[in-house]
Amino acid sequence: MRKHLLSIDDVSADDAATLFATAAEMHDVQRRQVKKLPALRGRTVINLFFEDSTRTRSSFEIAGKWLSADTINITGKGSSASKGESLRDTVLTIAAMGVDALVMRHPASGAALQVSQWVDAAVLNAGDGTHEHPSQALLDAYTLQQRLGSLEGRHVAVVGDLTHSRVFRSNVKLLTKLGAQVTVVAPPTLMPSGVGAWSAAAGFATSYDLDEVLPKADAVMMLRVQRERMSGGYFPSAREYTVGYGLTRDRLRLLGPDVPICHPGPMNRGLEIAADAADAAQSVVLDQVSAGVAVRMAILYHLLAGEETD
Ligand code: NCD
Repeated sequence: MRKHLLSIDDVSADDAATLFATAAEMHDVQRRQVKKLPALRGRTVINLFFEDSTRTRSSFEIAGKWLSADTINITGKGSSASKGESLRDTVLTIAAMGVDALVMRHPASGAALQVSQWVDAAVLNAGDGTHEHPSQALLDAYTLQQRLGSLEGRHVAVVGDLTHSRVFRSNVKLLTKLGAQVTVVAPPTLMPSGVGAWSAAAGFATSYDLDEVLPKADAVMMLRVQRERMSGGYFPSAREYTVGYGLTRDRLRLLGPDVPICHPGPMNRGLEIAADAADAAQSVVLDQVSAGVAVRMAILYHLLAGEETD
């Protein structure tokens, strides 16, 4: 693996296999009563979050702690960024304290790449605008592999607000790299512009018809309608969105009983996913969360443990 994790472009299929093997070991550690491993003792990991987060931030923090790193959380709201400090000054200040890794989330696409050019620490992109969220894609693929075995030739439907979704972008890259057949589904207004050329080059399919795609899916990934990133009316009403693109109780019948239902969270229950689907026996939403810790332990381990510590 490279020094940073900025994009799924930094992860080869072999890297993913290595990470998943380590994550499986970490998953065993997670089930123990005493979860500490000494691997990252003496290393410092800063979580720098300029956007809200429940799962990603806490799972990176837990992952670091279980590997014995010192982990510290800094949020945009509670930091000097709210006093007008620039991103560059904020990260140079943090880096000057001697940190080993910076896990960062920022509303601007490309922010993590930019920061990686300013600091010596390893930079892990925990979501940059609508660009990428590579650790999420890794934990999603890990969860699916645990359920389905190899992803080679399996059909994964990725459904929802694709325009605003960094999870979609990272997932399409990783799933296709792992040999899955991917169909992305959205209403025309939430299908990103330029997806036609990208899908042709990367070999995934696009569709506006969820009812047609679901019966053929081996897994379905529902994505959140990201209202906070929307400036205009992308659909007439919440009800209309649900009728066309929600995983409703009726649509659940179109899915095989063992087809895993994923959602990265947070879920808008009743909008993109009905409670019947979110809480169904085939829902893997909470498996994704627990895999999130194991996969992030594996990422931190591979990025940091191999380095010279002198
Ligand atoms: C995602 C994110 O922040 O990109 N959530 C997450 O990390 N679990 C998806 C979302 O916000 O909808």
